[in-house]
Amino acid sequence: MLRNGILGLWCLLSALPTSFTAAAAAAAAVDERPNIVFILTDDQDVHMSGLEHMALTRKYLQDKGTSFERHYCTVSICCPSRVNIWTGQLSHNTNVTAVHPPYGGYPKFIQNGYNDKHLAYWLQQSGYNTYYTGKMYNGQTTKNYDKPAIKGYNESDLLLDPLTYQYYDFAATRNAGPVRNVGGEYSPDFTAKTAYEFLDLALRNGHDGARRPFFLTVAPIAPHCEGSGPTGRPPQAADRHKDLYKDYRIPRNTSNFNPDSPSGVSWVRDLEQMNDTVMDFNDEYQRQRLRSLQSVDEMVEQVVLRLEEAGVLDNTHIFYTSDNGYHIGQHRLHPGKMLGFEEDIRVPLVWRGPGVPEGHTRQSATSHSDLAPTIMRIAGLSYDDREFDGAPLELEEETTRRREHVGIEFWGTALAESMWSVGAGGYNGTYPKNTYKGLRIEAEKYGLYYSVWCTRESELDPGQMNNLLATHPEDDAPPTSIITSRPLQRLVDRLDALTLVLKSCKGSTCTHPWRALHPEGEVESLLDAMDSRYDGFYEGQPKVSFDECAPGYLVGVEGPQEHDVYHGRGQELRRNADEDDDWSFWL
Ligand SMILES: *[C@@H]1O[C@H](CO)[C@@H](O)[C@H](O)[C@H]1NC(C)=O
Ligand SMILES: *[C@@H]1O[C@H](CO)[C@@H](O)[C@H](O)[C@H]1NC(C)=O
Ligand SMILES: *[C@@H]1O[C@H](CO)[C@@H](O)[C@H](O)[C@H]1NC(C)=O
Ligand SMILES: *[C@@H]1O[C@H](CO)[C@@H](O)[C@H](O)[C@H]1NC(C)=O
Ligand SMILES: *[C@@H]1O[C@H](CO)[C@@H](O)[C@H](O)[C@H]1NC(C)=O
Repeated sequence: MLRNGILGLWCLLSALPTSFTAAAAAAAAVDERPNIVFILTDDQDVHMSGLEHMALTRKYLQDKGTSFERHYCTVSICCPSRVNIWTGQLSHNTNVTAVHPPYGGYPKFIQNGYNDKHLAYWLQQSGYNTYYTGKMYNGQTTKNYDKPAIKGYNESDLLLDPLTYQYYDFAATRNAGPVRNVGGEYSPDFTAKTAYEFLDLALRNGHDGARRPFFLTVAPIAPHCEGSGPTGRPPQAADRHKDLYKDYRIPRNTSNFNPDSPSGVSWVRDLEQMNDTVMDFNDEYQRQRLRSLQSVDEMVEQVVLRLEEAGVLDNTHIFYTSDNGYHIGQHRLHPGKMLGFEEDIRVPLVWRGPGVPEGHTRQSATSHSDLAPTIMRIAGLSYDDREFDGAPLELEEETTRRREHVGIEFWGTALAESMWSVGAGGYNGTYPKNTYKGLRIEAEKYGLYYSVWCTRESELDPGQMNNLLATHPEDDAPPTSIITSRPLQRLVDRLDALTLVLKSCKGSTCTHPWRALHPEGEVESLLDAMDSRYDGFYEGQPKVSFDECAPGYLVGVEGPQEHDVYHGRGQELRRNADEDDDWSFWL
């Protein structure tokens, strides 16, 4: 086969006039940069172990690559998160903060000037052939998909709203051509089939004498629910997977599963404990999610085998991740996302490729903001001048201290995706007052979540089940000295200051927020910042706050925007002799 290819090229070249032969030879300057395949699932969590049920993905990607075990989305909802992935910018910078206009969706992405400012566009400009199949953005509809069409792709086949989340009856557009209504095909299989077609094209286009590397994104809708919001139903499975996982149940042995006492703040506090009817429904919901992922699992194998057969696997990077996570039953929550709980923000990330250690795991806190810069670096492109809010993922053991923070954000209303949410607790499956700023810290010796809500509540919660800052009247007074033997407020002051920096950061301030507070570089981590010499500085910082619960990013109601900078003089408090540093709680 290879011989025929070379022979074919030779015949073609020798048949051309000499001047053309020279031109072809010049064009044949082979671009050896690696290919990139990006597999993006929809709403796949880490905690209910979907990836563990994907034997082929484990075999072909996890065992052959590196898994980032503390990888987070920065905004737990599809479209804003995808915009974060493809632009490398946080939602407060893209201002695409929702799934529909006026605050989000495809029209907002276009309106905010991103159609020629995203990864595929840059890769294509640099000589990559680019392909996308599956769901791209919410709000990309049968009416607006070509007004204008997405730029940056040589070939695309996109699922369109309002039928994106129909597993067997959906609408798609090939290269922004007329809408096709597809009936009777299973959506994740359709996406897979198109992926193979694009892969064939990419391989062919890459071997026409002027080799071009390719960037292929495969974005099936699995395991997203069928439909959306309170009328959403469990996803559908392909016929061949219908009988799997009959005995599966959502793990009951996590402390946050349908707990006896409520958790969280704002509307989460009001949720009722779920009864057996609802829990049975939820178990089947999760079974369907796992079944729907089996189609994705088969696709992963096919993609790898096809790359191998074409002899390019060794020069191809493959990424596997999800736009955001998912909860079902944890914290008494009906199926859904949009919160700052681990279930919602932690997502799988596996990376296989040349030079990527096999069967390894990484523990640094990483986020979706890091993916675009990572891929830019793989493609040999400059990423410093793109205003990325992340940095390329590190594969080596970190020589310096690892990054431990991820800023989390959300605006507007949360939705449950289950009929059982309607009526429960007096809600109808939509939960206003879901605007918050969060901070995930994952260090070697400590991990916690801090958040400030538009309801003027805040959370500090190592395990997210015991809010140390609960202000609900029925709660016991918050303990003052659980984390260190120093007052809890000292820690809260640091966390709040870090959140203040991250909630409006740009560029390297997002990856190195402590430097914004301590420009001389003496503070690189929360632990460094806990030094009591900074107590006065942190106590005096403006505090993160909201004037109201807005549906989008309205800076005017988001409290202070500027933080103080440490300059060493007059900012110390006298050290309290009782306040010994004791971090044993975290160990
Ligand atoms: C974000 O977009 C909304 C809707 O267009 C607008 O009202 C708001 O002012 C924007 N926020 C920023 C910070 O630009
Ligand atoms: C892909 O698109 C780019 C930009 O339009 C173009 O230069 C390149 O030739 C296209 N590749 C193929 C295989 O058509
Ligand atoms: C929960 O149960 C599963 C399955 O029995 C087990 O693998 C896991 O380790 C348990 N987790 C905890 C936190 O006990
Ligand atoms: C279980 O809870 C749901 C939702 O609150 C409620 O509608 C239903 O009636 C309950 N079922 C039983 C058997 O109590
Ligand atoms: C739920 O109730 C709110 C008002 O509380 C209303 O604005 C919204 O349209 C309702 N949503 C649904 C899905 O019924």
